Amino acid sequence: MFLLLGFKGVYAPEHLYGWSRTFFSKSDGETFFVPSAVWKDSGGKVINAHGGGILFYAGRYYWFGEHRPASGFTTEVGVTCYSSKDLYHWTYESVALAVSNKSGNDIEKGCIIERPKVIYNTRTKKFIMWFHLELKGKGYEAARAAVAVSDTPAGPYHFIRSGRINSETYPVNETETIRKTSFNSTLNSTWWTPEWRRAVEQGMFVKRDLQTGQMSRDMTLFVDEDGKAYHIYSSEENLTLQIAELTGDYLGHTGRYIRVAPGGHNEAPAIFKHGGTYWMITSGCTGWEPNEARLFSASSIWGPWKQHSNPCRGRKANVTFGGQSTYVFPVEDKTGVFIFMADKWNPKNLADSRYIWLPICFESDGTPYVEWRSRWNL
Ligand code: DGJ
Repeated sequence: MFLLLGFKGVYAPEHLYGWSRTFFSKSDGETFFVPSAVWKDSGGKVINAHGGGILFYAGRYYWFGEHRPASGFTTEVGVTCYSSKDLYHWTYESVALAVSNKSGNDIEKGCIIERPKVIYNTRTKKFIMWFHLELKGKGYEAARAAVAVSDTPAGPYHFIRSGRINSETYPVNETETIRKTSFNSTLNSTWWTPEWRRAVEQGMFVKRDLQTGQMSRDMTLFVDEDGKAYHIYSSEENLTLQIAELTGDYLGHTGRYIRVAPGGHNEAPAIFKHGGTYWMITSGCTGWEPNEARLFSASSIWGPWKQHSNPCRGRKANVTFGGQSTYVFPVEDKTGVFIFMADKWNPKNLADSRYIWLPICFESDGTPYVEWRSRWNL
């Protein structure tokens, strides 16, 4: 049996003992992230913040995520917030955005809130949360993006609105093709035929959804060095990613957006910038089951985006170590350090889904990769 003594506790493989802390401390105070372990907050409760992201503000890290129930898939609580000084020790702050008890409200208890992300607007001094919203009782058909705002990082956030994106607007990178092509409406009744695939690539679903606005499911946010913010989401029946510019106050969309990897079936986008290049890690679409991660790069957020090979290495690299990307966090006070954040979903008990955080490493040519580590620190 593998045992390392000299630690405050006993360091042993997770499957033998089960971790019960966010991190593991050595007697000299050194701390580690332990991916896939049970991570607890400073009050000893299991951290419930899935599909989330991190905001750094005034010397503190704020982790926002989906509160998930032990059984079922719908949102009964809302978006939770934890804060930390060092990324290892997390204090439960609050339910940053609570579901509503009013029947018919967009975020009524029993809706589905996924992948919340928070950014700070230095001009308006507001904290802005965007998330994927599905309406109560409608499965995943609404495919809406929703926005909420707060004056303080931990909230409470006030829900503003939800809806589809950029109605009556063509993407900037394929306007002419989509405008000119007339798609046979019967094509959508049989998916995966070569004709259907070609039509998807040519923008059949963009055109179908022109009036209502574009679908928006798995999502993330990205603020560039010039302060412009972007919303990146799985659109067009999860077949194509879109990147849409947010307005100066980050509360809406400007109408400028592009399609990325048409027909590529990408979910779980996580984006970051390193060495002047935009990098995006995504997953395929297999529900709660893990699959192989994908990597894309571009020298401009507006593309063209190029696909690279799977960025994961080591144990279970072919299924993203059993997880699915949610965010890449640039550790603000450690320039050049990026944390790849992923969820190891447990659909039988979503509250027990685990967190896989790993460092992003870079090849000599600047290409990022993520290697499995059973424990690591900054
Ligand atoms: C995969 C998505 O990435 C998750 O956020 C969630 O929507 C599940 N699908 C639901 O099956």
